[in-house]
Amino acid sequence: MKENNAMKKLIFDTDPGIDDAMALLLLHAISDLDIRGITTVFGNASIEDCTRNALYICERFKLPYKVYQGAGKGLNGDNEEAYPDFVHGKNGLGDIDRGFISIDSEKESAVDFIIREVEANAGDITLLAVGRLTNIALALLQAPGLDKKISEIVIMGGALKVAGNVTAWAEANIHGDPEAAQCVFESGVPLVMVGLDATMSNQMTKDHLEDVTGQLDDAGLFLRTVKKCYLDFHASKGIVDAFPIHDSTAVLRLARPEFFDDLQGNVQCVLNGEQRGRTALLDSRPVHRVCMKSDNRRCIAYFDEVMKRCYGG
Ligand code: BDR
Ligand code: CA
Repeated sequence: MKENNAMKKLIFDTDPGIDDAMALLLLHAISDLDIRGITTVFGNASIEDCTRNALYICERFKLPYKVYQGAGKGLNGDNEEAYPDFVHGKNGLGDIDRGFISIDSEKESAVDFIIREVEANAGDITLLAVGRLTNIALALLQAPGLDKKISEIVIMGGALKVAGNVTAWAEANIHGDPEAAQCVFESGVPLVMVGLDATMSNQMTKDHLEDVTGQLDDAGLFLRTVKKCYLDFHASKGIVDAFPIHDSTAVLRLARPEFFDDLQGNVQCVLNGEQRGRTALLDSRPVHRVCMKSDNRRCIAYFDEVMKRCYGG
């Protein structure tokens, strides 16, 4: 296991998910991060499928991380009506055959793990959340004072000045649990929002995917296989032969902030009406950083470099 006191310690909260899978492989490939555990949340598929997908990736690529299963429904108790199988396939991983997975998730829940790990490393843990914010909101609600002990939260979610991707206003991770998002925004924990403003223009072309994954071992084969479904979805939306690397962009913002331009403000989540799930600036107090622009060329070059170093065939 990568572990060093100088490394940034983080928990990866995720709903794998095709782009989550790519983000996890990228995260693992970045050598100066100390990943303390993976927590799962429902979103791209059911919580059972998302957890199974995290375990599948860990087993197939020998990633040495424990997986903690998290929330299967939203903060207000609502069950999901339909998972986005048109983006991520029915099992959340492009309907790849996962076969038998011999490792299991931990008995401890994701929320209990987040609370325990933050308490034990007060001021040192970054939460990198690329799904709905349900687990983090539950941890904040269940452990008063936890907000003061989290170093930073980096999320993939939201849309400030661009349109949403579920409704005209709302991005998927925020739209999936607006109450959780608002709880996290209100918590006062330093937060970086990596939303569609930064991710929609941070795309990888299909040709580039073929090229770079062709230079990788089994990780390359895996990414090419699962990406088919994701590419088809984006083609149907008019993004032909390329795809936004949503969750990987949040990983890159965490690891290489110099590739991004941010603005500061006080982000809130709209909870009612047709704009439900919208992220908007309430005022200009510098409570949150919102990532507005990514340097696509540097992001892709860095992606290539670390992926080849880690998984180069
Ligand atoms: C986000 O929604 C999910 O489908 C993706 O995994 C990503 O986290 C993009 O809006
Ligand atoms: Ca995700």
